[in-house]
Amino acid sequence: MADKNFELLDPASGKKSLLPVRQGTVGPAVLDIATINKDQGVFTFDPGFGVTAATESKITYIDGDAGVLMHRGYPIEQLAEKSSFTEVAYLLLYGDLPTAQALQEFSLSIGHHTMINESLLRFFGGFHHNAHPMAMVSAVVASMSAFYHDTMDINNPRHREIFAHRIIAKIPTIAAAAYKHSLGQPFVYPRNDLDYCANLLHMFFAVPCERYEVDADAAAALDLLFILHADHEQNASTSTVRLAGSTGANPYAAISAGVSALWGPAHGGANEAVLDMLEQIGSVDQIPKYLAMAKDKSAHFRLMGFGHRVYKNFDPRAKIIRAMCHKVLAKLGSADNPLFELALKLEEIALKDEYFVSRKLYPNVDFYSGIIYSALGIPRSMFTVMFAIARTVGWVAHWQEMISDPSMRIGRPRQLYTGPVQRDYVAVAKRG
Ligand code: ACO
Repeated sequence: MADKNFELLDPASGKKSLLPVRQGTVGPAVLDIATINKDQGVFTFDPGFGVTAATESKITYIDGDAGVLMHRGYPIEQLAEKSSFTEVAYLLLYGDLPTAQALQEFSLSIGHHTMINESLLRFFGGFHHNAHPMAMVSAVVASMSAFYHDTMDINNPRHREIFAHRIIAKIPTIAAAAYKHSLGQPFVYPRNDLDYCANLLHMFFAVPCERYEVDADAAAALDLLFILHADHEQNASTSTVRLAGSTGANPYAAISAGVSALWGPAHGGANEAVLDMLEQIGSVDQIPKYLAMAKDKSAHFRLMGFGHRVYKNFDPRAKIIRAMCHKVLAKLGSADNPLFELALKLEEIALKDEYFVSRKLYPNVDFYSGIIYSALGIPRSMFTVMFAIARTVGWVAHWQEMISDPSMRIGRPRQLYTGPVQRDYVAVAKRG
């Protein structure tokens, strides 16, 4: 229920509308414009959805000015320090932290859905060895729509739950298969005695001819990165999953759409682009040249890993990852990492520069994550795939929330048409 209304007056016609102002539990209120077309005969115009709330949601809250991120009310800093990725996945999906028993059952269920159908594994043989892993992951996730027909009734809550567990469990296996395919190595099957991230490292780095011990520090670092990437409210890929899912599409197809949207360098692809950029910059003395390019609109060069649609203060995830870089690099024996040193210097110089200060451009989650992935031995082309694995949890939570809402409607934006007005068809021979 609206506590107050916003009055909109068209001075030409004198028509008045009362638009309800809806207040959430925390954060800015929204103006409910659902009746504006009926009342005033106009639509609203907001390219890029800069100020448009497309849905109501109970999952994640961000205050971009204060640098706050909370999942189901829990601050990201607390989850990063005290929780695990599996527990955060449960929290995002079910709304509350699990009891010990619920967590054990959830972990067991995820652990028992990790294998993928052998036919799906054979799909990888159709890809060239140098196919980008995001292309392979997106295609194989979409192909899951052709399997698992038994649980595809999206209106059945149990079917939705099985889907959720399956995709969260299987996406690391698909990602690892994509990696192994690119190397020409045999696929490594999942091990259900390992936890989520340890199993992922095992599938990535084990080979049949040698014993492989998962490094506990590496698994812990990955787990923390996954917590930080698990969800971020209505970002581009999540909104893509919602839009695709709102048609009643098969949920695996909707998740695949999310993987594709994440791939772009303005979104999840930035983690790969940051390391490319740092390597291109090469040394501290080159920083001013690249900063000048980033400020020059005609240069078509942006400082990758900088800026965010919502955060106009430090991205809280970037803060945690920067601190983690110091620890991980020291533990894994690469404390003097030249790209990390360069990234620190670039951040320091950019944050003193009037261009970045006045536009409130700060490092985002992707500025430092690639440095940790590299230290863990994960190749650059797999960075965005790692992001996709973690973000699958958020995509599924938002898809679930949308589908279980009885008032869900197909997502269908409007437009401001600026093309030609009506004209008559002219036969090809008569066109001048
Ligand atoms: N380098 C240089 N200038 C920038 C940058 C950047 N990284 N980001 C924004 N700007 C400038 C814009 O040119 C614009 O300047 P102007 O006002 O003079 O025209 C101003 O800052 C506002 O930028 P917008 O593009 O309007 O901001 P928007 O909210 O649309 O874009 C985005 C946000 C896409 C993240 C942008 O900052 C960007 O491209 N950053 C680099 C890519 C990146 O790191 N993406 C990852 C984001 S986090 C994530 O998705 C996981």
